Amino acid sequence: MIVVWRVVNSCNLACGFCAYDKRLGFPRSQAAPAEILRFATVLAEHQAQTGDGVLLSWLGGEPLRWQPLQALTHAVRGLGLEVSATTNGTTVGSLALRQHLCETYKELTISVDGFAAFHDPSRGWAGGFEKLRRWVPQLAREARVHGSRLKLRANVVLMHQNVGEFATLCDELADWGIVEITYNQLGGRDRPEFYPQHRLTGADVDALERALPAIRQNLASRAVMLIGGEHYLARIRASTLGQRMPVSDCDPGQSFLFIDEKGQVSPCSFTTQDYGIDIGSLRSAADLAALPARFRLLQQAARSRECDDCLSTQVCGKFNAARRKAPAMAAAE
Ligand SMILES: C[S@@+](CC[C@H](N)C(=O)[O-])C[C@H]1O[C@@H](n2cnc3c(N)ncnc32)[C@H](O)[C@@H]1O
Ligand code: SF4
Ligand code: SF4
Repeated sequence: MIVVWRVVNSCNLACGFCAYDKRLGFPRSQAAPAEILRFATVLAEHQAQTGDGVLLSWLGGEPLRWQPLQALTHAVRGLGLEVSATTNGTTVGSLALRQHLCETYKELTISVDGFAAFHDPSRGWAGGFEKLRRWVPQLAREARVHGSRLKLRANVVLMHQNVGEFATLCDELADWGIVEITYNQLGGRDRPEFYPQHRLTGADVDALERALPAIRQNLASRAVMLIGGEHYLARIRASTLGQRMPVSDCDPGQSFLFIDEKGQVSPCSFTTQDYGIDIGSLRSAADLAALPARFRLLQQAARSRECDDCLSTQVCGKFNAARRKAPAMAAAE
């Protein structure tokens, strides 16, 4: 089971495409550390009883700048859970943090959207790309030296302005010691003012589709995996064409959970409003086992409109196609 926990919604960067951009003036909040620890014990009980390994994945905002996270990560590892995070990489220059990552993390996903001319202004981080170019290989080297099993991944947000350099960026990331690359198209919900000028066009997706086999082959020859297959590309194409992709049954709560910083758990990050349940109501592995049925009841009572155009990368098999059975797709409308 993968549990993605958005532990904080504040951030130190200013990405014009993101809801957590530091320039946005909304009240920021954070998870309750004691509640993370408590729920981690429930997850550990589930893991022990079922043999289903749990990967707890920290998300933000910027999770690695959240002060309680290191101690929490040690505690969670002590319970036997695996840990990963997605980060903007601004803290990876710290030797102490890199040691912590090597000692405790199974995976780390670093967001890199392009070379300096694109990445730095789009994230509001002057010199950021060059820093990542030094720090990430350093982390990869230290992980090797310490015999750490840390797997370094990168995530690229594809937009009209950077999709043309995706192939060379992938090559660069392979040079850094990244072993898995994921990508997602720019989404438009968070910053509708940014979207029209930056979204992928149909021609961009056609070009991407033509480029992908060579990108995959080149990366494979360097032992790097590009995640996301045909179904994932179809999902991206549908968005560019304004077509909806409904999912009738995603097996909610079975192998993936999303928890927001307020402690609401849902089958994906898009359905917190419609299917969110307070994790305070989950006190045991039995409660966790009953969660899929609770989600289904909520779905039957009032199906979320999000499911009529499911944007969840989990369902589209971006991350863990091998671990999931295919979702039941409804006929496209
Ligand atoms: C919200 S960030 C949080 C973690 C961390 N701050 C980072 O940037 O990696 C998680 C991922 O979402 C991506 N992201 C943010 N806004 C997006 C958008 N509008 N469309 C697609 N991906 C987006 C980021 O690039 C990052 O890879
Ligand atoms: S660094 Fe991550 S959380 Fe922060 S604004 Fe950029 S994408 Fe959003
Ligand atoms: S939006 Fe997709 S992943 Fe989320 S609950 Fe609906 S079908 Fe499942």
